[in-house]
Amino acid sequence: MAFQIPRGTQDILPGDSEKWQYVEQVARELCSRYGYREIRTPIFEHTELFLRGVGDTTDIVQKEMYTFEDKGGRALTLRPEGTAPVVRAFVEHKLYGSPNQPLKLYYSGPMFRYERPEAGRFRQFVQFGVEAIGSSDPAIDAEVMALAMHIYEALGLKRIRLVINSLGDLDSRRAHREALVRHFSGRIDELCADCQARLETNPLRILDCKKDRDHELMATAPSILDYLNDESRAYFEKVKHYLAMLGLPFVVDSRLVRGLDYYNHTTFEIMSEAEGFGAAATLCGGGRYNGLVEEIGGPEMPGIGFALSIERLLAALEAEGVELPTDEGIDCYVAALGERAKEEAVRLVYELRRAGLRVDQDYVGRKLKAQLKAADRLKAAFVVMIGDEELDKQIATVKEMASGEQTNVPFGELASFFTERTRREGE
Ligand code: HAM
Repeated sequence: MAFQIPRGTQDILPGDSEKWQYVEQVARELCSRYGYREIRTPIFEHTELFLRGVGDTTDIVQKEMYTFEDKGGRALTLRPEGTAPVVRAFVEHKLYGSPNQPLKLYYSGPMFRYERPEAGRFRQFVQFGVEAIGSSDPAIDAEVMALAMHIYEALGLKRIRLVINSLGDLDSRRAHREALVRHFSGRIDELCADCQARLETNPLRILDCKKDRDHELMATAPSILDYLNDESRAYFEKVKHYLAMLGLPFVVDSRLVRGLDYYNHTTFEIMSEAEGFGAAATLCGGGRYNGLVEEIGGPEMPGIGFALSIERLLAALEAEGVELPTDEGIDCYVAALGERAKEEAVRLVYELRRAGLRVDQDYVGRKLKAQLKAADRLKAAFVVMIGDEELDKQIATVKEMASGEQTNVPFGELASFFTERTRREGE
């Protein structure tokens, strides 16, 4: 019986893994430029954390969590997102006591949601995210959005759109909630069973319904922007002002409510406008979550962040035809002819690797000609050839693959010969 990978997951093979490394490296470097430092949290957490953090009326909690009981009878959940775990760590390690406020953190790692797999929608996917905790300065909202856009731009994406909204503070949301209940109550039976339940538990979630998205009641639903109180409105104006100052184009969409319960004030998404994107067009989502730290047992502290999926980022890059570095090739391949030469090759390869070079050799008993072909496939910049004659003289024949030029180099000088010639710009 042949095994198959579980539905909604994927293997990332060499050739692709380099692309992953590259985009993660660009994102990490930009985070560091913006003053964000990495945090790593476990892949599973106590289920209760997500019930509290993400919200027990959200689709994520109601339908999508991978929850299990461990042998000690604890209810654990594979993390569906990174914000609640980061806030849990923030509270647990009392990072709110750090003089460095806001605390700016980033993370990268697999998340798990039991969703219906389709293009760009996986059951295990990798989020790269940031959280800035401890500031309610609208300038940091702009910084977080600028960072997300910067990551995409640095990687070469052009057809992206920043969509923003404000959910306001608690008072604004309460007023909006009442208006939503008034709007939907009379005709709620026209909407799906989930929406009917949402009317009681969390009417804002109705606006996020995937099934009833196109129903007329959705288009005419009261807009949160009409219910923002003065303070919330002023906050949103400031955020927009900063975005404009940074020269970041955005559109306001009052129907952007997001699928998690912890949001208030600023919410945003970054969409791909490249062709061939359907449901997976949302590359990145984020927003402000004042109140979450408290909800998870910490002091009252505001926060804002985003998460983007690397899978969708790579798909967008492909859709826009952006080439990413893949296999760079090795510096040198050591080809050996005969038993004695083979022994010398084993030693030499190790020596050159210790000197910092990317080096390989034959391990499957290839003839010299096949070894040279293998060197070609590995995109070796140089081939070192060793046979009996070279061994006797302790001088290797070195061929530069690009020019075909051959040089004789004493064994003892090979490391410095290659180090000089393969030193790349900027190193
Ligand atoms: P989210 O909108 O649930 O937000 O997810 C963020 C991003 O993760 C989405 O925009 C999408 O690109 C990606 N994503 C979500 N589900 C899947 C999936 N099944 N397959 C592939 N990609 C997916 C959050 O998770 C929040 N924690 C973001 C945040 C951070 N808000 C504040 N700080």
